[in-house]
Amino acid sequence: MNGLVIAVDGPAAAGKGTLARRLAAELGLPYLDTGLLYRATGRRVLDRGVDPRDAPVAEAEARALTPADLARANLRGSEADMAASAVAAIPAVRAALLEWQRDFGRRHGAVLDGRDIGTVVFPDAPVKLFVTASVEERARRRWLELRAGGIAADRQQVQAEIRDRDAQDANRPVAPLRPAPDALVLDTTSLDAEAAFATALALVRERL
Ligand code: C5P
Repeated sequence: MNGLVIAVDGPAAAGKGTLARRLAAELGLPYLDTGLLYRATGRRVLDRGVDPRDAPVAEAEARALTPADLARANLRGSEADMAASAVAAIPAVRAALLEWQRDFGRRHGAVLDGRDIGTVVFPDAPVKLFVTASVEERARRRWLELRAGGIAADRQQVQAEIRDRDAQDANRPVAPLRPAPDALVLDTTSLDAEAAFATALALVRERL
């Protein structure tokens, strides 16, 4: 599997991370959660007390990212979600993070999850998955996850935030959230993690 690149894209809370991580473990490939790059950039901008839509500051922070930024504890939660989505809409931020992602994938192959892996970062990836589910189901899963982590969130609010973030990600002019024409769309609304994994693995075997 050395050298193989697998793109796993999709909207928020669709189960991309779980699937991508499992594929990587099964195939012995490195895994990269590309959302972390945007989250860490957003967090650095917030730490400076600046609006995450500020393009020059966001670009400078994207260029200054360090591995330690990706390991920070406060990269999740609604403030971090929205800051990530705001910096991700800035073309100069995306440009700053592009080569980093490509270098990571090219070194030994990789499974990468995000929004534009199959369309922009690795348009020639031999295996592309677009993982999605209804917004109600995604909100339910995120809400259960938060509850399991001891966070009492309002389910309607979780759903509204997911909807807002998807709209922002899908409507930006650069690298919008959308399936690559050659991606397999995996709707997991009524598919459990096991079945999603089996379908994805079958596609990998078929494309190799
Ligand atoms: O995947 P995750 O929810 O962690 O991503 C956080 C945000 O980062 C997304 O809402 C999106 O705006 C942005 N993102 C992106 N392109 C990627 C990965 C994430 O624009 N490849």
